[in-house]
Amino acid sequence: MTEFVQIVEVGPRDGLQNEPDLVPLSAKLAFVEGLIAAGLREIEATSFVSPKAVPQLADADDLMVTLPRNSAVCYHALVPNERGLERALTAKTDVIALFTSATEAFCQANIRCTVAESFERFAPVVERVRAAGLSLRGYVSVAFVCPFCGDVDPGAAVDIALRLAEIGCDDVCLADTVGRARPEQVTAVFSQLLKTLSPDRLSLHVHDTDGRALDNIDAALELGIRRFDGAAGGLGGCPFAPGAPGNVATQRVVRHLHERGFETGVDPDLITRALDPVLPYLTRPVVT
Ligand code: COA
Ligand code: ZN
Repeated sequence: MTEFVQIVEVGPRDGLQNEPDLVPLSAKLAFVEGLIAAGLREIEATSFVSPKAVPQLADADDLMVTLPRNSAVCYHALVPNERGLERALTAKTDVIALFTSATEAFCQANIRCTVAESFERFAPVVERVRAAGLSLRGYVSVAFVCPFCGDVDPGAAVDIALRLAEIGCDDVCLADTVGRARPEQVTAVFSQLLKTLSPDRLSLHVHDTDGRALDNIDAALELGIRRFDGAAGGLGGCPFAPGAPGNVATQRVVRHLHERGFETGVDPDLITRALDPVLPYLTRPVVT
């Protein structure tokens, strides 16, 4: 039997948050509709963060309530605090994604607090997410390399990931936010985590700055990880991480997985077609 790998499409959030031009709501909506037509079932649609911090996603409330609803499709959104959760619940988000960092420097740059304070903010959010019966994801940003501190001690990333699992994150996602991780770092972090957590609670989010995204995915696949993020067309980056260009293109991840004999349920050519409505607003070429 072919083994299934779950793709989490983060283009509408991680991708569009880094575009200098605002993409109109109608184009975002058509983009997500196209992603669903391509077979994607877990879509990180937006963030309920401060619109001053990320003006590109200021339309999160309107977008989330307008998205087509289909019981097979789960919409994820980033939530930094209780205010964000309130908005996410009102808009009927399916998966709440918390995010903190493996380093203090990135945490400050990204969410303007210490790692310890980020967990204090999470406590009331987690309680309400649980009460609402929603699924919870937790990101460890800069899990391998930090734009401010360089290589991250695997123990630091493991520690934060385990804390996210402990507070109740169903899925803990290790993020190579700047796209400079090496496969041996991926192996080091995941093999430590797998001593405590089962592979179905872990996922990997990679950018492709140094061209090693697929090697890093292979390192995680080798250890039994079966959930990976990608952004359609290789859109994306992080406005708070200098030098972070695109996410790995979902089409490349999907084609690579299919070549390796895995099943994803996703058609990479239809992902390329899904990008059409947003192309006029993008400043960089997309991967097809
Ligand atoms: N939704 C909407 N507005 C929010 C908000 C939310 N979830 N959280 C805070 N705000 C508003 C506040 O009302 C306040 O507005 P005001 O200046 O008009 O009074 C302003 O944002 C600052 O709020 P404060 O609580 O002081 O937060 P902060 O300045 O310490 O910033 C974050 C903390 C986390 C809210 C902010 O840094 C943020 O949204 N970062 C986004 C990070 C991100 O998306 N990174 C990419 C993912 S890797
Ligand atoms: Zn990212």
